[in-house]
Amino acid sequence: MKFSALLALAPLVAAIPGSKQASSDASFSVMSARSASPVHLLPLNAAGSYFWLGGNAQTYSPVEGIPESNQTVITAGHYLDVVVPGGQAIYVDPKGALRFTTPHSAYEPAGSSDGPFAYTPGTSFGHWSYTGQGASGFMACPSSNSTATVRRGRRAAAAPKYQVFAALKNATVPSGNVADCIGFDALAIAANGTTPTWEYI
Ligand SMILES: *[C@@H]1O[C@H](CO)[C@@H](O)[C@H](O)[C@H]1NC(C)=O
Ligand SMILES: *[C@@H]1O[C@H](CO)[C@@H](O)[C@H](O)[C@H]1NC(C)=O
Ligand SMILES: *[C@@H]1O[C@H](CO)[C@@H](O)[C@H](O)[C@H]1NC(C)=O
Ligand SMILES: *[C@@H]1O[C@H](CO)[C@@H](O)[C@H](O)[C@H]1NC(C)=O
Repeated sequence: MKFSALLALAPLVAAIPGSKQASSDASFSVMSARSASPVHLLPLNAAGSYFWLGGNAQTYSPVEGIPESNQTVITAGHYLDVVVPGGQAIYVDPKGALRFTTPHSAYEPAGSSDGPFAYTPGTSFGHWSYTGQGASGFMACPSSNSTATVRRGRRAAAAPKYQVFAALKNATVPSGNVADCIGFDALAIAANGTTPTWEYI
């Protein structure tokens, strides 16, 4: 949908009544919503095994016809939408950071959480959330170490200033203080029909 339309609808998010669960294979991208904050309407991006608000996705494709992408698309609740055999799962590590598994590996640090993550479709956009460990969704934490997202100069974008964590009081965040983090709504924008990239790196 158009960005301007999103902008107009974002304040209404809280008023959208819950709808039933989508089919598990729905794909979507995520935009943060927290009005009057520095993290209002930034794209959620996967890069360097972590997630960020802003910047670009970091992807790789060795296969002609399968494009690299600077956008991040999620499918089946908590997987990146990829072609690479084995797929790439999204999880929360023991520090509370939202992360994704590297290609050709299912490795997650001991004590990681695989959910529950939930995608709830809506009329214009849906919602994505994480409620494992009693978390109420996600938060954006100031970080100055997002260099992974600008490594690929070809699609350089400003380095993201916020890293995404599960909204947990005991998260270990880059600034050392969870109070520096900003909770946000994860708006899910349907991305059905997008060609999946090969892998996120
Ligand atoms: C997305 O595509 C899948 C698979 O074709 C379908 O089951 C699902 O309902 C679609 N979701 C949306 C939101 O269009
Ligand atoms: C993302 O990629 C598209 C085409 O591949 C390009 O037009 C667009 O400018 C890129 N966006 C950013 C933020 O780099
Ligand atoms: C953080 O708190 C949650 C909820 O109480 C708990 O499940 C989790 O184990 C804690 N994590 C750490 C690393 O202490
Ligand atoms: C970068 O962020 C990660 C994830 O929060 C953190 O573990 C690490 O200490 C940070 N590194 C630096 C140099 O700030």
